[in-house]
Amino acid sequence: MRYAQITGWGMAVPEKVLTNDDLARVVDTTDEWIVSHTGIRQRHVAGDKESTSSLAVRAAREALLVADVAPTQIGLVIVATVTPDYPFPATSSLVQDALGAANAGAFDLAAGCSGFIYALSMAADVIRAGSTQHVLVVGAETLSRVVDWTDRNTCVLFGDGAGAVVVSACAERCGVLASVLGSDGSGGELLIVPGGGSRLPTTHETVASGSHFAKMNGREVFRFATTMMPKATQQVTAKAGWQTADLALIIPHQANARIIDSAIKRLGLPNDRFFMNIDRYGNTSAASIPIALCEAIAAGKVKTGDKLVLVGFGAGLTWAATAVEWGMPAPTRPRPWYRRSWTNFLFWWAGVRSLFLRTERHTYNWAMGPVGKDDWRGKLRKRVDGFRSNVKRKVKGD
Ligand code: ACO
Repeated sequence: MRYAQITGWGMAVPEKVLTNDDLARVVDTTDEWIVSHTGIRQRHVAGDKESTSSLAVRAAREALLVADVAPTQIGLVIVATVTPDYPFPATSSLVQDALGAANAGAFDLAAGCSGFIYALSMAADVIRAGSTQHVLVVGAETLSRVVDWTDRNTCVLFGDGAGAVVVSACAERCGVLASVLGSDGSGGELLIVPGGGSRLPTTHETVASGSHFAKMNGREVFRFATTMMPKATQQVTAKAGWQTADLALIIPHQANARIIDSAIKRLGLPNDRFFMNIDRYGNTSAASIPIALCEAIAAGKVKTGDKLVLVGFGAGLTWAATAVEWGMPAPTRPRPWYRRSWTNFLFWWAGVRSLFLRTERHTYNWAMGPVGKDDWRGKLRKRVDGFRSNVKRKVKGD
């Protein structure tokens, strides 16, 4: 029997911090209102040179270092995000390239703030099925790019960041033991970016009307969240064969401290069984749970054998929960310098490899001219292509 356990974890947030007082200078709000209604005191916001993929790569590198797994050992990269760098290519492919994960497949997963749990559950299934040994799962967002900074109903809530885990095969019963995934698309319009997709393609009008910004019915989402979070927690706990009293820690999606407080009341568990860091990051959507996991580990709140539930909800509407029996002791001291240096060399090498692949592609296309042309360059292209496929066949031993 194969199990899938978390063996590495890492997080990254932009340097720039926006406090409630900073926001109060931009929109009609106050620190008092934001803290009392959401629990948020500050959030991190991406700078001009940062993007979802750059935050994802930073978090992923840290996770690989903790797991002591080389990028080439990763079989699959899943990036959960609703704020990808581009509609396509997938952010996961950019991450795969930047890490030098040369043997990995890659895809993005969009399930709102539940995305990280969806991705973790997929990763565990892929590993249990025996398809690969290691999967990199990242939750990464730059919501600051889709927030309307004049709308006080939404701009105070969100922040940017990324969290990543390496999920690896193991023989002992531990790791991701059960998951519950759900969706109710009838609530899609409650949290939506209406413009920029195939339904409402980007035009001057959609930009002028602000359709490319996130719109939210806060009260409805709040009602949904306070019902679904405790329900999904109970369901996944039962599915894993545990009682809620057995849970050492619940790591909920950090959307609003009041939503978490309501879940605490409904589940009847002590406050210290719930991890909360929303005050410092705001709602980082798919990144919020892995960031909270990293901070819970760093705070010594996660120990080997602990039963955890990670639970989230979000746009879709979606909800998801996963039951994890923690199998890995947190590293007590940093890896030896030579191992870190080796892994850092591999990350540097990934950059060189990516540059080489791009240069080779450009040079080849420039030198060989357009496909199908029957001039001397077309003939040369045919000869070079034939030579390349012969070499490839020989290398593969066909
Ligand atoms: N500052 C001051 N006043 C504000 C602000 C603000 N930033 N935002 C709203 N208000 C006002 C409203 O205009 C309203 O005024 P009115 O009564 O004169 O109309 C008043 O405060 C109360 O508004 P409510 O919407 O009732 O406030 P509520 O207590 O419900 O809190 C909030 C609003 C924080 C948005 C809450 O509903 C919430 O957290 N909902 C869930 C949101 C959520 O979790 N979203 C993320 C989903 S996950 C994902 O996938 C991204």
